[in-house]
Amino acid sequence: MKKPMQNEHWGSRLGVVLAVSGSAVGLGNFLRFPAQAASNGGGAFMIPYLIALVAVAIPLASAEWALGRYGGRRGMHSPMGIYYVASGRRPFFGVCGGGLTFTAFVINMYYLFVESWCALYALQYLGGLLAPLGLGFSLFPNQAPGLSLDSAAAYQDAFLATTGATRDRALFGANGASVLGVFALCAIANFWLIYRGVSKGIERFCKAVAPLILICSIIIIFRVLTLDNPTGKEGQSLLDGLGFMWNPQNAAETLKKPSVWLAATSQIFFSTSICTSAVLCYGSYVQAKRDVALSSLTSTMTNEFCEVCLGGLMIVPPAIMFLGAAASEKIGSVFSLGFVILPNVFGQMPAGQFFGFAFFALLFFAAITSSISQLQPASAFLEEAFGWTRGKRVLAVALAELTGTFVVCWFTEGLVALDAFDFWSANFMPFLCALVQTTLIVFFLGRKKLRDELDSGAIIKTSKYVFPAIAFVSLPYLAIVFGFWLYGEFVNKCKEFAAKPGSLTSEIFLLAVFAALVIVSIFTVLRWKREERLGKEKGANL
Ligand code: TRP
Repeated sequence: MKKPMQNEHWGSRLGVVLAVSGSAVGLGNFLRFPAQAASNGGGAFMIPYLIALVAVAIPLASAEWALGRYGGRRGMHSPMGIYYVASGRRPFFGVCGGGLTFTAFVINMYYLFVESWCALYALQYLGGLLAPLGLGFSLFPNQAPGLSLDSAAAYQDAFLATTGATRDRALFGANGASVLGVFALCAIANFWLIYRGVSKGIERFCKAVAPLILICSIIIIFRVLTLDNPTGKEGQSLLDGLGFMWNPQNAAETLKKPSVWLAATSQIFFSTSICTSAVLCYGSYVQAKRDVALSSLTSTMTNEFCEVCLGGLMIVPPAIMFLGAAASEKIGSVFSLGFVILPNVFGQMPAGQFFGFAFFALLFFAAITSSISQLQPASAFLEEAFGWTRGKRVLAVALAELTGTFVVCWFTEGLVALDAFDFWSANFMPFLCALVQTTLIVFFLGRKKLRDELDSGAIIKTSKYVFPAIAFVSLPYLAIVFGFWLYGEFVNKCKEFAAKPGSLTSEIFLLAVFAALVIVSIFTVLRWKREERLGKEKGANL
């Protein structure tokens, strides 16, 4: 068989729960969720969202942890190896797993970039570019600290300078050096943590950062909930803000749209990191004697608390309180909500500078514990495929990720490349992955093996419910929602992308990444098969 691997494990139960929660809680909770909710009917969005949580996230999270550990016990840590052994050594599933490593790997190419914007914004708050006070430095040579903060346009300018969204290759001009410099520091931090390994790098870091995330969130929530009607205008009180986010207005109409169901389900995948190879990979480092049943529930629920309670309170209500319902039209865009509207809101609140800093520091810390989880599956993939040492793997993953980010930084006009990367990796692939994974569990792994795996070391007994929930609820739900998506949106989406040159180039790049993963998986799986055959022949000859 294959070479024995260095067997890595999590150090403690708390450590693994914090690492998986760290992976789950990220920009998806604080930026993507509020923007998705606001642009898909506000409170009405919460209905399909909660249905997707119960129908898909809770059962699949348990199964994914169990599936991961099932593979981990057999020396496999990437989706390729895990699917291969869990399907009874079927090459087809091995190759599917290899192809699906795409999700986390590609998401990282832009996620890391957005993470660096958060770091940059936090620094700009410290320096005083986005706030009236500060240490008096600006990372942008052509924007002095304390820009004319009374106009919304000033925030828009700072955003455009950070993202280069005005034209392609803008980041290779004036302000780009700072943006790319901060990005380089973030990238180095990420690769360093992966290089340190599962328990010494990822686990230790997540344990250290979790309290910081909690403290920053509490500070901000306290601020939001103590601001009632700050402008004194009608329709801009705390209740109006909360009402916009939580009242299911026009629910009947909203629920008729397939796109809303799609958005809600994709949000669940993105946010919990399930069906994206991250949880599968993290689960594979759990020791056999340790629990997965309670741990999976705990981390899913921690994520939901951060998303629905914290993310749901922190962002949209203050935007409505300060800017009125008119702001809601612009809230739909993930980035303008976080990087333009909120700084504008902070600018208008007492001590806003401090809260602006706390907010972007929170985003940055939440993001980094997520982005490292996107790198680990690719590193495990290379280990299984080529048997490389950790240093070599991290170097190869880093080079590949940076090439992708280069494409994202090149085609920045209207952030088209980022959009294309996001669509294929965060909307399309997780569905495909969910369908493959549920099929594998239901028809190939089977009820008995899933139950045994879930029960091993379990603190609570959930195994009875997980299999039927997946077979009779998750699988049909996913097939229906994905079917509607393909039928109603897929062709239009492809046409839309084909019309923009930046997206087309991005897609060719993404196709090449996907093809490379699939080709390497085919060779690896064939090698495994050959080794098994040789092993058997040797056994027969003895
Ligand atoms: N869950 C993270 C968030 O909410 C994002 C994330 C972490 C992720 N790991 C992932 C997304 C793996 C896809 C794949 O921000």
